[in-house]
Amino acid sequence: MSATLLRGRTLSFHRRPEAIDDRVAWTYEIDGAVLVENGLIVDSGDYGAVKAKAPEDAVEIDHHPHLILPGFIDTHVHFPQMQVIGSYAANLLEWLNTYTFPEECRFVESAHASRIAVHFFDEMIRHGTTTAVAYCSVHKASADAFFAEALRRDMRMVAGKVMMDRNAPQGLLDTAETGYDETRAVIEAWHGKGRNHVAITPRFAITSTPAQMSAAEALVREFPDLHVQSHLSENRDEIAFTASLYPDAIDYTDVYARYGLLGPKTLMGHCIHLSERERDAMSETGTVAVHCPTSNLFLGSGLFPWKDLMRREKPVRVSVATDIGGGSSYSMLRTLDEAYKIQQLLGERLNPFESWYWMTRGNAEALSLADRIGTLDAGTDADLVVLDMAATPAMALKAEVVSSLSDELFLLQTMGDDRAVAETYVAGRPMKAGLAT
Ligand code: GUN
Ligand code: ZN
Repeated sequence: MSATLLRGRTLSFHRRPEAIDDRVAWTYEIDGAVLVENGLIVDSGDYGAVKAKAPEDAVEIDHHPHLILPGFIDTHVHFPQMQVIGSYAANLLEWLNTYTFPEECRFVESAHASRIAVHFFDEMIRHGTTTAVAYCSVHKASADAFFAEALRRDMRMVAGKVMMDRNAPQGLLDTAETGYDETRAVIEAWHGKGRNHVAITPRFAITSTPAQMSAAEALVREFPDLHVQSHLSENRDEIAFTASLYPDAIDYTDVYARYGLLGPKTLMGHCIHLSERERDAMSETGTVAVHCPTSNLFLGSGLFPWKDLMRREKPVRVSVATDIGGGSSYSMLRTLDEAYKIQQLLGERLNPFESWYWMTRGNAEALSLADRIGTLDAGTDADLVVLDMAATPAMALKAEVVSSLSDELFLLQTMGDDRAVAETYVAGRPMKAGLAT
Protein backbone atom coordinates (compact mmCIF):
# COMPACT_ATOMS: atom_id res chain seq x y z
CA MET A 1 0.00 0.00 0.00
CA SER A 2 1.43 3.37 -0.96
CA ALA A 3 2.04 6.11 1.57
CA THR A 4 -0.34 9.04 2.09
CA LEU A 5 0.75 12.52 3.10
CA LEU A 6 -2.06 14.44 4.77
CA ARG A 7 -1.40 18.16 4.80
CA GLY A 8 -3.27 20.66 6.98
CA ARG A 9 -3.09 22.38 10.32
CA THR A 10 -2.22 19.68 12.87
CA LEU A 11 -2.77 19.50 16.63
CA SER A 12 -1.69 16.78 19.07
CA PHE A 13 -1.35 16.68 22.85
CA HIS A 14 1.58 15.48 24.97
CA ARG A 15 -0.18 15.75 28.32
CA ARG A 16 -3.15 17.46 29.97
CA PRO A 17 -2.93 21.25 29.60
CA GLU A 18 -3.15 22.66 33.11
CA ALA A 19 -4.12 26.15 31.95
CA ILE A 20 -5.14 27.87 28.76
CA ASP A 21 -1.55 29.13 28.27
CA ASP A 22 0.11 25.75 29.00
CA ARG A 23 1.76 25.84 25.58
CA VAL A 24 4.10 22.87 26.07
CA ALA A 25 1.20 20.44 26.53
CA TRP A 26 0.51 20.33 22.80
CA THR A 27 2.07 20.78 19.36
CA TYR A 28 0.33 22.80 16.69
CA GLU A 29 1.61 23.19 13.13
CA ILE A 30 0.03 25.83 10.89
CA ASP A 31 1.46 24.03 7.85
CA GLY A 32 1.60 20.53 9.21
CA ALA A 33 1.46 17.02 7.82
CA VAL A 34 0.86 13.44 8.84
CA LEU A 35 2.60 10.71 6.86
CA VAL A 36 0.64 7.46 6.85
CA GLU A 37 1.71 4.02 5.67
CA ASN A 38 0.09 0.62 6.25
CA GLY A 39 -2.47 2.09 8.63
CA LEU A 40 0.13 3.69 10.88
CA ILE A 41 1.46 7.19 11.39
CA VAL A 42 5.06 7.16 10.15
CA ASP A 43 5.78 10.80 10.95
CA SER A 44 4.01 14.06 11.76
CA GLY A 45 5.05 17.68 12.19
CA ASP A 46 6.07 20.53 9.93
CA TYR A 47 4.97 19.83 6.34
CA GLY A 48 8.40 20.47 4.79
CA ALA A 49 10.18 18.18 7.25
CA VAL A 50 7.61 15.39 6.94
CA LYS A 51 7.50 15.63 3.14
CA ALA A 52 11.27 15.25 3.00
CA LYS A 53 10.87 11.80 4.58
CA ALA A 54 7.92 10.72 2.41
CA PRO A 55 8.42 8.26 -0.46
CA GLU A 56 8.29 9.91 -3.87
CA ASP A 57 5.07 8.15 -4.81
CA ALA A 58 3.23 9.21 -1.63
CA VAL A 59 -0.29 10.43 -2.40
CA GLU A 60 -0.73 13.94 -1.02
CA ILE A 61 -4.10 15.23 0.24
CA ASP A 62 -4.29 18.87 1.27
CA HIS A 63 -6.87 19.52 3.99
CA HIS A 64 -6.07 23.21 4.46
CA PRO A 65 -7.62 25.27 5.97
CA HIS A 66 -8.93 22.44 8.14
CA LEU A 67 -7.51 21.07 11.37
CA ILE A 68 -6.18 17.49 11.55
CA LEU A 69 -6.29 15.78 14.96
CA PRO A 70 -6.19 12.25 16.32
CA GLY A 71 -9.68 10.68 16.00
CA PHE A 72 -12.04 11.20 18.90
CA ILE A 73 -12.38 8.52 21.57
CA ASP A 74 -15.69 7.79 23.32
CA THR A 75 -15.15 5.75 26.48
CA HIS A 76 -18.76 4.81 27.32
CA VAL A 77 -21.56 4.18 24.85
CA HIS A 78 -24.39 1.64 24.57
CA PHE A 79 -24.64 0.33 21.03
CA PRO A 80 -28.15 -1.23 21.53
CA GLN A 81 -29.54 2.13 22.65
CA MET A 82 -29.50 3.97 19.33
CA GLN A 83 -33.30 3.93 19.30
CA VAL A 84 -33.54 4.81 23.00
CA ILE A 85 -32.10 8.33 22.58
CA GLY A 86 -34.61 10.99 23.53
CA SER A 87 -36.90 8.75 25.61
CA TYR A 88 -39.00 10.83 28.00
CA ALA A 89 -38.35 9.65 31.57
CA ALA A 90 -38.07 11.26 35.00
CA ASN A 91 -34.89 9.51 36.08
CA LEU A 92 -32.44 6.65 35.46
CA LEU A 93 -34.43 3.72 36.86
CA GLU A 94 -37.67 4.74 35.14
CA TRP A 95 -35.76 5.27 31.89
CA LEU A 96 -34.10 1.83 32.15
CA ASN A 97 -37.31 -0.05 32.96
CA THR A 98 -39.65 1.78 30.60
CA TYR A 99 -37.56 2.16 27.47
CA THR A 100 -34.06 0.78 27.66
CA PHE A 101 -34.56 -2.79 28.84
CA PRO A 102 -37.46 -3.45 26.40
CA GLU A 103 -35.39 -2.03 23.53
CA GLU A 104 -32.33 -4.14 24.40
CA CYS A 105 -34.54 -7.28 24.33
CA ARG A 106 -34.74 -6.86 20.55
CA PHE A 107 -31.03 -7.72 20.26
CA VAL A 108 -31.81 -11.38 20.77
CA GLU A 109 -32.27 -11.29 16.97
CA SER A 110 -28.86 -11.28 15.34
CA ALA A 111 -30.30 -9.68 12.18
CA HIS A 112 -31.43 -6.72 14.27
CA ALA A 113 -28.07 -6.52 16.05
CA SER A 114 -26.23 -6.57 12.71
CA ARG A 115 -28.44 -3.85 11.25
CA ILE A 116 -27.92 -1.56 14.27
CA ALA A 117 -24.17 -2.28 14.28
CA VAL A 118 -23.92 -0.86 10.75
CA HIS A 119 -25.72 2.29 11.88
CA PHE A 120 -23.57 2.52 15.00
CA PHE A 121 -20.28 2.47 13.13
CA ASP A 122 -21.65 4.89 10.53
CA GLU A 123 -22.47 7.35 13.31
CA MET A 124 -19.07 6.93 14.91
CA ILE A 125 -17.36 7.79 11.64
CA ARG A 126 -19.78 10.60 10.84
CA HIS A 127 -18.90 12.18 14.19
CA GLY A 128 -15.14 11.65 13.95
CA THR A 129 -15.02 9.00 16.67
CA THR A 130 -12.51 6.32 15.76
CA THR A 131 -12.47 4.35 19.02
CA ALA A 132 -15.43 3.65 21.30
CA VAL A 133 -15.88 1.61 24.44
CA ALA A 134 -19.27 0.01 24.03
CA TYR A 135 -21.78 -2.02 25.95
CA CYS A 136 -23.50 -4.60 23.78
CA SER A 137 -26.70 -6.25 25.07
CA VAL A 138 -26.84 -9.38 27.21
CA HIS A 139 -27.11 -11.47 24.06
CA LYS A 140 -23.88 -12.95 22.75
CA ALA A 141 -25.20 -12.35 19.21
CA SER A 142 -25.08 -8.60 19.84
CA ALA A 143 -21.38 -8.75 20.69
CA ASP A 144 -20.73 -10.94 17.65
CA ALA A 145 -22.52 -8.40 15.43
CA PHE A 146 -20.60 -5.51 16.98
CA PHE A 147 -17.16 -7.05 16.66
CA ALA A 148 -17.82 -8.35 13.14
CA GLU A 149 -18.66 -4.83 12.00
CA ALA A 150 -15.62 -3.37 13.82
CA LEU A 151 -13.42 -5.93 12.09
CA ARG A 152 -14.96 -5.19 8.70
CA ARG A 153 -14.06 -1.52 9.14
CA ASP A 154 -10.73 -2.24 10.85
CA MET A 155 -11.60 0.04 13.77
CA ARG A 156 -10.05 -0.11 17.22
CA MET A 157 -12.99 -0.86 19.48
CA VAL A 158 -13.47 -2.01 23.06
CA ALA A 159 -16.78 -3.72 23.87
CA GLY A 160 -18.39 -6.40 25.95
CA LYS A 161 -21.38 -8.66 26.16
CA VAL A 162 -23.34 -7.29 29.11
CA MET A 163 -23.67 -9.61 32.11
CA MET A 164 -27.01 -9.21 33.94
CA ASP A 165 -28.94 -11.89 35.80
CA ARG A 166 -31.64 -10.08 37.82
CA ASN A 167 -33.91 -7.03 38.05
CA ALA A 168 -34.64 -6.88 34.34
CA PRO A 169 -37.11 -8.55 31.93
CA GLN A 170 -36.64 -12.29 31.38
CA GLY A 171 -35.50 -11.71 27.80
CA LEU A 172 -32.59 -9.68 29.08
CA LEU A 173 -31.18 -12.06 31.66
CA ASP A 174 -28.31 -14.50 31.55
CA THR A 175 -27.16 -16.47 34.59
CA ALA A 176 -23.95 -16.39 36.55
CA GLU A 177 -22.83 -19.43 34.56
CA THR A 178 -23.98 -18.45 31.07
CA GLY A 179 -22.75 -14.89 31.59
CA TYR A 180 -19.33 -16.33 32.35
CA ASP A 181 -19.36 -18.89 29.52
CA GLU A 182 -20.60 -16.48 26.88
CA THR A 183 -18.18 -13.72 27.90
CA ARG A 184 -15.39 -16.27 27.63
CA ALA A 185 -16.64 -17.32 24.20
CA VAL A 186 -16.70 -13.67 23.08
CA ILE A 187 -13.14 -13.20 24.33
CA GLU A 188 -11.97 -16.29 22.48
CA ALA A 189 -13.75 -15.32 19.28
CA TRP A 190 -12.91 -11.63 19.13
CA HIS A 191 -10.22 -10.34 21.49
CA GLY A 192 -7.15 -9.39 19.48
CA LYS A 193 -8.88 -10.12 16.18
CA GLY A 194 -8.19 -7.06 14.01
CA ARG A 195 -8.15 -4.19 16.45
CA ASN A 196 -10.89 -5.57 18.70
CA HIS A 197 -10.61 -5.51 22.49
CA VAL A 198 -13.15 -7.37 24.63
CA ALA A 199 -14.22 -5.80 27.93
CA ILE A 200 -15.65 -7.73 30.88
CA THR A 201 -19.02 -6.01 31.34
CA PRO A 202 -21.20 -6.63 34.41
CA ARG A 203 -23.88 -3.96 33.75
CA PHE A 204 -24.12 -2.69 37.35
CA ALA A 205 -24.60 -4.10 40.83
CA ILE A 206 -28.40 -3.88 40.64
CA THR A 207 -28.60 -6.31 37.72
CA SER A 208 -25.93 -8.77 38.88
CA THR A 209 -26.38 -11.25 41.72
CA PRO A 210 -23.42 -11.90 44.02
CA ALA A 211 -22.92 -15.15 42.10
CA GLN A 212 -22.60 -13.24 38.85
CA MET A 213 -20.23 -10.72 40.41
CA SER A 214 -18.06 -13.69 41.45
CA ALA A 215 -18.20 -14.94 37.85
CA ALA A 216 -17.04 -11.53 36.65
CA GLU A 217 -14.24 -11.66 39.23
CA ALA A 218 -13.17 -15.05 37.90
CA LEU A 219 -12.99 -13.60 34.38
CA VAL A 220 -10.89 -10.68 35.59
CA ARG A 221 -8.49 -13.11 37.26
CA GLU A 222 -8.25 -15.22 34.11
CA PHE A 223 -7.91 -12.23 31.78
CA PRO A 224 -6.20 -9.51 33.85
CA ASP A 225 -5.26 -7.43 30.81
CA LEU A 226 -8.83 -6.93 29.65
CA HIS A 227 -10.82 -3.80 30.31
CA VAL A 228 -13.70 -3.98 32.79
CA GLN A 229 -16.68 -1.66 32.54
CA SER A 230 -19.71 -0.99 34.69
CA HIS A 231 -21.81 1.82 36.18
CA LEU A 232 -21.31 3.45 39.58
CA SER A 233 -23.06 6.14 41.61
CA GLU A 234 -25.14 7.74 38.88
CA ASN A 235 -28.42 8.36 40.71
CA ARG A 236 -29.53 8.55 44.37
CA ASP A 237 -32.27 5.89 44.02
CA GLU A 238 -29.81 3.58 42.24
CA ILE A 239 -27.36 4.01 45.12
CA ALA A 240 -30.05 3.22 47.73
CA PHE A 241 -31.26 0.14 45.80
CA THR A 242 -27.68 -1.12 45.50
CA ALA A 243 -27.14 -0.68 49.25
CA SER A 244 -30.26 -2.80 49.91
CA LEU A 245 -28.99 -5.56 47.59
CA TYR A 246 -25.48 -5.62 49.06
CA PRO A 247 -26.05 -4.86 52.77
CA ASP A 248 -22.57 -6.01 53.78
CA ALA A 249 -20.75 -3.58 51.50
CA ILE A 250 -19.48 -0.31 52.98
CA ASP A 251 -20.84 1.62 50.00
CA TYR A 252 -21.51 1.23 46.26
CA THR A 253 -17.82 1.32 45.29
CA ASP A 254 -17.09 -1.35 47.87
CA VAL A 255 -19.51 -3.72 46.09
CA TYR A 256 -17.20 -3.75 43.08
CA ALA A 257 -14.06 -3.77 45.24
CA ARG A 258 -15.25 -6.91 47.05
CA TYR A 259 -15.38 -8.73 43.73
CA GLY A 260 -11.97 -7.55 42.55
CA LEU A 261 -13.50 -5.40 39.83
CA LEU A 262 -11.59 -2.15 40.52
CA GLY A 263 -8.25 -1.52 38.85
CA PRO A 264 -6.38 0.47 36.21
CA LYS A 265 -8.28 -1.20 33.33
CA THR A 266 -11.68 -0.58 34.95
CA LEU A 267 -13.99 2.12 33.60
CA MET A 268 -16.86 3.12 35.87
CA GLY A 269 -19.58 5.14 34.17
CA HIS A 270 -20.86 8.29 35.93
CA CYS A 271 -19.36 8.37 39.49
CA ILE A 272 -21.29 11.52 40.34
CA HIS A 273 -22.12 11.05 44.02
CA LEU A 274 -19.00 9.32 45.42
CA SER A 275 -18.01 9.85 49.07
CA GLU A 276 -14.44 10.72 50.00
CA ARG A 277 -13.89 7.10 50.98
CA GLU A 278 -15.07 5.93 47.58
CA ARG A 279 -12.88 8.48 45.82
CA ASP A 280 -9.90 7.17 47.79
CA ALA A 281 -10.75 3.61 46.76
CA MET A 282 -11.01 4.65 43.11
CA SER A 283 -7.69 6.50 43.32
CA GLU A 284 -5.82 3.74 45.11
CA THR A 285 -6.86 1.15 42.53
CA GLY A 286 -6.36 3.43 39.50
CA THR A 287 -10.01 2.96 38.49
CA VAL A 288 -11.29 5.44 35.91
CA ALA A 289 -14.42 7.56 36.52
CA VAL A 290 -16.14 8.13 33.18
CA HIS A 291 -18.04 11.41 32.97
CA CYS A 292 -21.10 11.34 30.69
CA PRO A 293 -22.30 14.95 30.60
CA THR A 294 -25.21 14.87 28.12
CA SER A 295 -26.60 11.79 29.88
CA ASN A 296 -26.24 13.28 33.35
CA LEU A 297 -28.16 16.38 32.26
CA PHE A 298 -30.76 14.46 30.25
CA LEU A 299 -31.57 12.03 33.08
CA GLY A 300 -31.14 14.69 35.76
CA SER A 301 -28.52 12.53 37.46
CA GLY A 302 -26.29 15.31 38.84
CA LEU A 303 -23.24 17.47 38.22
CA PHE A 304 -19.97 15.53 37.89
CA PRO A 305 -17.37 16.95 40.32
CA TRP A 306 -14.61 16.63 37.73
CA LYS A 307 -12.15 19.12 39.20
CA ASP A 308 -12.67 17.88 42.77
CA LEU A 309 -11.85 14.35 41.63
CA MET A 310 -8.65 15.44 39.91
CA ARG A 311 -7.45 18.03 42.44
CA ARG A 312 -7.46 15.91 45.59
CA GLU A 313 -4.40 14.48 47.33
CA LYS A 314 -5.35 11.12 45.88
CA PRO A 315 -6.55 12.08 42.42
CA VAL A 316 -9.10 9.94 40.62
CA ARG A 317 -8.43 9.10 36.97
CA VAL A 318 -11.16 10.48 34.75
CA SER A 319 -12.44 10.24 31.21
CA VAL A 320 -15.38 11.65 29.22
CA ALA A 321 -17.99 9.94 27.06
CA THR A 322 -21.37 10.20 25.30
CA ASP A 323 -23.32 7.40 27.06
CA ILE A 324 -25.69 7.00 24.13
CA GLY A 325 -28.69 6.46 24.62
CA GLY A 326 -28.94 8.09 28.09
CA GLY A 327 -26.70 10.62 26.39
CA SER A 328 -28.25 12.71 23.67
CA SER A 329 -25.46 13.19 21.12
CA TYR A 330 -22.92 10.97 19.36
CA SER A 331 -20.65 13.97 19.05
CA MET A 332 -17.66 14.37 21.33
CA LEU A 333 -17.84 18.09 20.47
CA ARG A 334 -21.38 18.32 21.85
CA THR A 335 -20.29 16.17 24.79
CA LEU A 336 -17.43 18.48 25.80
CA ASP A 337 -19.71 21.49 25.29
CA GLU A 338 -22.08 20.07 27.89
CA ALA A 339 -19.16 19.11 30.13
CA TYR A 340 -18.01 22.72 29.97
CA LYS A 341 -21.46 23.95 31.03
CA ILE A 342 -21.60 21.51 33.95
CA GLN A 343 -18.27 22.84 35.19
CA GLN A 344 -19.59 26.40 34.77
CA LEU A 345 -22.52 25.51 37.05
CA LEU A 346 -20.02 24.18 39.60
CA GLY A 347 -17.94 27.37 39.38
CA GLU A 348 -15.04 25.53 37.71
CA ARG A 349 -13.14 26.25 34.47
CA LEU A 350 -12.61 23.75 31.68
CA ASN A 351 -10.33 25.43 29.17
CA PRO A 352 -10.64 24.56 25.45
CA PHE A 353 -7.22 22.92 25.28
CA GLU A 354 -8.09 20.67 28.19
CA SER A 355 -11.40 19.70 26.54
CA TRP A 356 -9.62 18.72 23.35
CA TYR A 357 -7.01 16.79 25.27
CA TRP A 358 -9.86 14.76 26.82
CA MET A 359 -11.46 13.96 23.46
CA THR A 360 -8.15 12.56 22.22
CA ARG A 361 -5.10 11.74 24.31
CA GLY A 362 -6.84 12.02 27.70
CA ASN A 363 -9.35 9.33 26.81
CA ALA A 364 -6.58 7.20 25.28
CA GLU A 365 -4.66 7.42 28.59
CA ALA A 366 -7.81 6.46 30.47
CA LEU A 367 -7.90 3.30 28.35
CA SER A 368 -4.16 2.69 28.79
CA LEU A 369 -3.98 2.86 24.99
CA ALA A 370 -2.03 6.09 24.44
CA ASP A 371 0.73 4.07 22.79
CA ARG A 372 -1.75 3.20 20.00
CA ILE A 373 -4.35 5.99 19.70
CA GLY A 374 -5.10 9.57 20.74
CA THR A 375 -2.01 11.35 19.35
CA LEU A 376 -0.21 12.02 16.07
CA ASP A 377 2.91 10.25 17.36
CA ALA A 378 4.91 8.10 14.94
CA GLY A 379 4.14 4.40 15.25
CA THR A 380 0.54 4.87 16.41
CA ASP A 381 -2.63 4.01 14.50
CA ALA A 382 -3.54 6.45 11.72
CA ASP A 383 -7.02 7.18 13.12
CA LEU A 384 -7.66 10.86 12.44
CA VAL A 385 -10.36 13.47 12.28
CA VAL A 386 -10.36 16.54 10.02
CA LEU A 387 -12.39 19.49 11.29
CA ASP A 388 -13.90 22.52 9.61
CA MET A 389 -14.64 25.45 11.91
CA ALA A 390 -16.79 27.12 9.23
CA ALA A 391 -18.99 24.09 8.53
CA THR A 392 -22.34 25.86 8.91
CA PRO A 393 -23.36 29.43 8.04
CA ALA A 394 -23.53 30.35 11.73
CA MET A 395 -20.12 28.82 12.39
CA ALA A 396 -18.62 30.55 9.34
CA LEU A 397 -19.91 33.89 10.60
CA LYS A 398 -18.38 33.35 14.03
CA ALA A 399 -15.18 32.05 12.39
CA GLU A 400 -14.67 35.49 10.85
CA VAL A 401 -13.74 36.85 14.29
CA VAL A 402 -11.71 33.88 15.51
CA SER A 403 -8.14 35.00 16.08
CA SER A 404 -6.43 32.14 17.92
CA LEU A 405 -6.30 28.36 18.07
CA SER A 406 -8.00 28.49 21.45
CA ASP A 407 -10.88 30.51 19.93
CA GLU A 408 -11.16 28.01 17.08
CA LEU A 409 -11.29 25.00 19.38
CA PHE A 410 -13.88 26.70 21.53
CA LEU A 411 -15.98 27.58 18.49
CA LEU A 412 -15.85 23.99 17.25
CA GLN A 413 -16.76 22.66 20.70
CA THR A 414 -19.56 25.16 21.28
CA MET A 415 -21.21 25.11 17.84
CA GLY A 416 -19.87 22.00 16.13
CA ASP A 417 -21.28 18.53 15.55
CA ASP A 418 -20.97 15.97 12.76
CA ARG A 419 -21.24 18.75 10.17
CA ALA A 420 -17.86 20.03 11.34
CA VAL A 421 -16.22 16.67 10.61
CA ALA A 422 -14.81 17.08 7.10
CA GLU A 423 -13.20 13.62 7.10
CA THR A 424 -12.53 10.68 9.37
CA TYR A 425 -9.54 8.41 8.67
CA VAL A 426 -9.55 4.88 10.03
CA ALA A 427 -6.16 3.16 9.81
CA GLY A 428 -5.23 5.73 7.18
CA ARG A 429 -8.32 5.26 5.02
CA PRO A 430 -10.85 8.06 4.48
CA MET A 431 -14.22 6.72 5.60
CA LYS A 432 -16.82 9.47 5.34
CA ALA A 433 -17.57 9.04 1.64
CA GLY A 434 -18.80 5.48 2.18
CA LEU A 435 -21.56 6.51 4.57
CA ALA A 436 -25.23 6.69 3.68
CA THR A 437 -26.10 10.40 3.81
N1 GUN B 1 -26.92 1.94 34.59
C1 GUN B 1 -27.11 0.66 34.24
N2 GUN B 1 -27.38 0.54 32.93
C2 GUN B 1 -27.34 1.78 32.43
C3 GUN B 1 -27.53 2.31 31.12
O1 GUN B 1 -27.80 1.61 30.16
N3 GUN B 1 -27.42 3.66 31.01
C4 GUN B 1 -27.13 4.47 32.06
N4 GUN B 1 -27.01 5.79 31.86
N5 GUN B 1 -26.95 4.00 33.30
C5 GUN B 1 -27.06 2.67 33.48
ZN1 ZN C 1 -24.00 3.62 30.49
